[in-house]
Amino acid sequence: MHQWNMNNTAKANVMSTMIGAAVVEARGMEEVAIDIAAPTKRADQMIFGGFLEHFDNQIYGGVFDPGSPLADEQGFRLDVIEALKELKIPVIRWPGGCFVDAYHWRKGVGPEREPYGDPRWGVIEPNTFGTHEFIELCRRLGAEPYICFNGLASPQENLDWVAYCNATAGEMAELRASHGHPEPYNVKFWSVGNERYDKAYIHRVRDTAKRVKELYPDVLMLCSGSQGGAGTQMPGVHTYLMEQAGEYLDYVSVHNYWLDRADQLPQVDYLTAIMKSEMPDAYMGVVAQSLSEHGADRIKIAFDEWNLRAWQHPGFPRNRVEDYDEPTIRELVERRRTQNDVASQYTMADALFSASFLNACLRHADHVAMATIAPLVNTRGPLFVHPKGIVKRPHVHTMAMYANELHERVAEVTVKADKLTHGNASVDVVDAIATVDDTGRRVAIALVNRHPSESVACALSMGGVPLDGTFRATRLTADSPDAYNDIDTPDRVAPKKVEQTFSKGTTSLPPHSLTIVDVTKP
Ligand code: AHR
Repeated sequence: MHQWNMNNTAKANVMSTMIGAAVVEARGMEEVAIDIAAPTKRADQMIFGGFLEHFDNQIYGGVFDPGSPLADEQGFRLDVIEALKELKIPVIRWPGGCFVDAYHWRKGVGPEREPYGDPRWGVIEPNTFGTHEFIELCRRLGAEPYICFNGLASPQENLDWVAYCNATAGEMAELRASHGHPEPYNVKFWSVGNERYDKAYIHRVRDTAKRVKELYPDVLMLCSGSQGGAGTQMPGVHTYLMEQAGEYLDYVSVHNYWLDRADQLPQVDYLTAIMKSEMPDAYMGVVAQSLSEHGADRIKIAFDEWNLRAWQHPGFPRNRVEDYDEPTIRELVERRRTQNDVASQYTMADALFSASFLNACLRHADHVAMATIAPLVNTRGPLFVHPKGIVKRPHVHTMAMYANELHERVAEVTVKADKLTHGNASVDVVDAIATVDDTGRRVAIALVNRHPSESVACALSMGGVPLDGTFRATRLTADSPDAYNDIDTPDRVAPKKVEQTFSKGTTSLPPHSLTIVDVTKP
């Protein structure tokens, strides 16, 4: 879909600009063509989901903070809930991640909750946020709960967890009722473990998913399907998984973070980060193709951990911790993890990378049916929560714009863009997606200019007709590609309502910007 196309005029206009130490090739006219006659694909709103793990301050001190003046009597941070509502979060995956393999759900329900040592992340888990609190959070946000099983627990323990949530009668339903919740929770999404791929795991997936589906035919089953590596490794789904368990699966879970942990310190510059922008699309294509090759197009992709930046947690996860108070453990946990919290790391690169990730989901809408940003809150997530309030990192605005301004169906778009080059890497300078509503009358076009310092001229046509006129639009950009929001400067990067003018099809996109244009047909 993205093609190299530099015509002679554009070639003549090529110039080089110094951006810091990077040489950037500038371009001629970019072209975005929307084919309004071609069939559209339904966009699954589940791509706007989030992941929450019991890691650092995502749960405790994030969404849940009993005793905080900003929390209600149940411990939920009301400012966080309000901010998340703007994102229309459709699904939340919980409780891990690595954490889940040391999690036993029964310890986290009912009135007798004991704190316990969590070896995966080296902390004492207070255990006050469990299944009920998770469901309550989802209900308040209008999100579907998606629970990931402990990949090392017995199959029975996990089947009991499903029964505890979904059974209408029997021992687990009675246990739930005794905890004050007689009505079943009807949790629809369940995953067999996190990031496991070996044969023993595949057998467990087969046996567990088969049994869950026999007992609860409406449940949708997921399991680990593919895990990328800093963008360069993009494995398809394993044949053995498909052979053994494919018939019981509804989704395969795919994970990747495109800036590796090792890449990130000192802080990654805008261009290095933005060069990762096309990798999600390539990875989705690989997984989708491998599903097709296995005759498994029915099985959808849930990109249920994604983010530009990998989380910092040196020395962890572990399987065992002897002494949680040991100074090196404390140092790793308390000091090193705060690297994730440094506000200046979250810039327009995060905002535009996230736009490109969501564009890729939409382009692959026939395969990608869920995505959950990892995490939703704190660590590398779009919403930073601190004891006195919140900070909306730039990528929160991308998510809000996409969830609120795009329409239900994805139109066929061809982008012919020149290349933005940095070192050995290059990406199209412009990325674009177009969505239409069910009537076909309203069109929303998301346009990304990745260039750090220059506006681009973009020719846009719909059905071969150049777009002409002035349209309402929302724009996310900032005074610098490296701009970020912080406690004292919360709105340096914030979307603005603008008017976008197209003159005989041509418009101008400011540097490092995302613009969503509302084109309503007369
Ligand atoms: O860095 C966070 C971890 O990344 C998650 O717990 C795990 O699922 C993934 O590998």
